[in-house]
Amino acid sequence: MYSRIFLIGFMGSGKSTHGSKLARKIGYDYVDMDQLIEETAGMTIPGIFKEHGEQVFRKWEHDILLELCSRVNVVVSTGGGAPCHNDMIRIMNDHGCTVYIKLPPDALKDRLLNSKTERPLIKGKSESELLEYIFTLLGIREEFYRQARYTVNGVNLELEELVNLLAETNIR
Ligand code: S3P
Repeated sequence: MYSRIFLIGFMGSGKSTHGSKLARKIGYDYVDMDQLIEETAGMTIPGIFKEHGEQVFRKWEHDILLELCSRVNVVVSTGGGAPCHNDMIRIMNDHGCTVYIKLPPDALKDRLLNSKTERPLIKGKSESELLEYIFTLLGIREEFYRQARYTVNGVNLELEELVNLLAETNIR
């Protein structure tokens, strides 16, 4: 089993929900990257975007990732944009097992519309604007997401599938 497991995927794909369950099941620590950034910065993600802008957020995301790469036995749910900036997909692949939770744009849209998390990139968008934005951004990000070691279908994803997938390998 890998020492570090990184769950990647678009906003709303269920990385945090699956990540915390997976960690509990396999006895690993669980870290939500966004939450760790917020704790470290003493600000919320929307606050960071507002005060410092996306570029600074990406830099902090990168710094946190490097710190996480020195931890062991940890499941990390990453922010949706993390693998797509500053070489972070390579860093994750070099330091652990990446799993892409893939969902179609329609499903992502429905999940995001029902989510209570405030996300600066999609704030204030109507349903149709949101769907168009997801199509566009996913089109750009897919190139990075598909570099994950494993891709799983996020529709009705069961914990069992993730556990079995990881049990297949003995690499550390
Ligand atoms: C972002 C996704 C968010 C958060 C930030 C930016 C993105 O995380 O990191 O709002 O660029 O897709 P979630 O994927 O957990 O929503």
